[in-house]
Amino acid sequence: MLFRILLLNCFLLICTLWNVLGIVYPQQTRTQQGACDREKTPTLTVGIFQCASVFGDKTANLNQMEATSRKAQALGIELVIFPELYLTGYTDFSLEKVRQMAEFSDGPSFVRASSIAQKYNVSLAYGYVEKDENGTMYDSAMLINQTGDRLLNYRKTHPTDIERYYFAEGSDYAPVVDLNGIKISLLICFDISFPEASRVLALNNAEFIIIGTANGYPAELNDLSKKVTPTRAGENMVYVAYVNFAQTNGSIPFYGLSRLCDPTGADVLVAGSSSTELLFADICPQMFNPNPNPFFKEFRRPEIDGKICQIY
Ligand SMILES: *[C@@H]1O[C@H](CO)[C@@H](O)[C@H](O)[C@H]1NC(C)=O
Ligand SMILES: *[C@@H]1O[C@H](CO)[C@@H](O)[C@H](O)[C@H]1NC(C)=O
Ligand SMILES: *[C@@H]1O[C@H](CO)[C@@H](O)[C@H](O)[C@H]1NC(C)=O
Ligand SMILES: *[C@@H]1O[C@H](CO)[C@@H](O)[C@H](O)[C@H]1NC(C)=O
Repeated sequence: MLFRILLLNCFLLICTLWNVLGIVYPQQTRTQQGACDREKTPTLTVGIFQCASVFGDKTANLNQMEATSRKAQALGIELVIFPELYLTGYTDFSLEKVRQMAEFSDGPSFVRASSIAQKYNVSLAYGYVEKDENGTMYDSAMLINQTGDRLLNYRKTHPTDIERYYFAEGSDYAPVVDLNGIKISLLICFDISFPEASRVLALNNAEFIIIGTANGYPAELNDLSKKVTPTRAGENMVYVAYVNFAQTNGSIPFYGLSRLCDPTGADVLVAGSSSTELLFADICPQMFNPNPNPFFKEFRRPEIDGKICQIY
């Protein structure tokens, strides 16, 4: 009990400090006010949903998606981003369990998610276990627009060593698509550790890269949110959202720290380390980069940089 009281005090103190510093804390939302002028430049209100999923219970997770979409609509959020493998949860895998949870890209979960998008007029980006007609499984991400149409289905191109046991590598990056006037594409988790992945999307004129992730401890992985996410945004002059789980009821304690960075690499949104949060902000890429041929394109040296594609 004493422990609890101390914890509570600690929590309140931290929250107060965070308030004073203007940093987001649990359950709160923040908008980047005045940053975008909808009259002048395409603007999208982006929500990042840092949460826990119930492992193996797609219905429960779809219900949470619906509740979140309802809340998002009330807040004026136009796109909600969920973590990697959101629909199934990411923990305690077994091959049998993963097979059981796998669906075709147009399977029943897509049908439900599509109807949620349409009902609440919000676009949705979320992860799920995909299977193809041969039963091969992928760690995939889906982007559905506000009328319930599928815009992208991306199969993770860089699964980690453990994931390779369950999932095949996706054969290519996703195309870049238009969502409310903003050019968007998808990556997943470990893909962020390969600068080539984000650069390929940026060269394809992406303005916003959405990355669902599932990072548990060790704490060194925090650097992916704190350092790598702002770097990918700044070096490619794109917005990057990096959306993680927080908490779990399985064996991996996810650490949150979901993030949205602007094209200068500055933080727009930063979530806490263990709380469920729906944070949102307006993004407007063209305010940062009205030039359709950004500097990194003009000054690249493909004739020598091709070496990066050699097999060493
Ligand atoms: C859906 O949201 C968009 C803004 O993203 C708005 O312009 C449109 O009017 C909304 N549609 C409906 C049917 O509410
Ligand atoms: C499924 O297997 C068949 C026969 O091996 C092959 O031709 C086809 O390309 C495979 N489909 C996919 C999606 O991998
Ligand atoms: C959603 O995507 C479909 C297919 O690309 C398109 O016809 C529709 O207009 C889009 N909806 C919105 C609200 O942009
Ligand atoms: C996680 O929560 C679900 C539903 O509350 C429950 O069925 C499941 O057993 C829990 N798993 C663990 C590992 O606690």
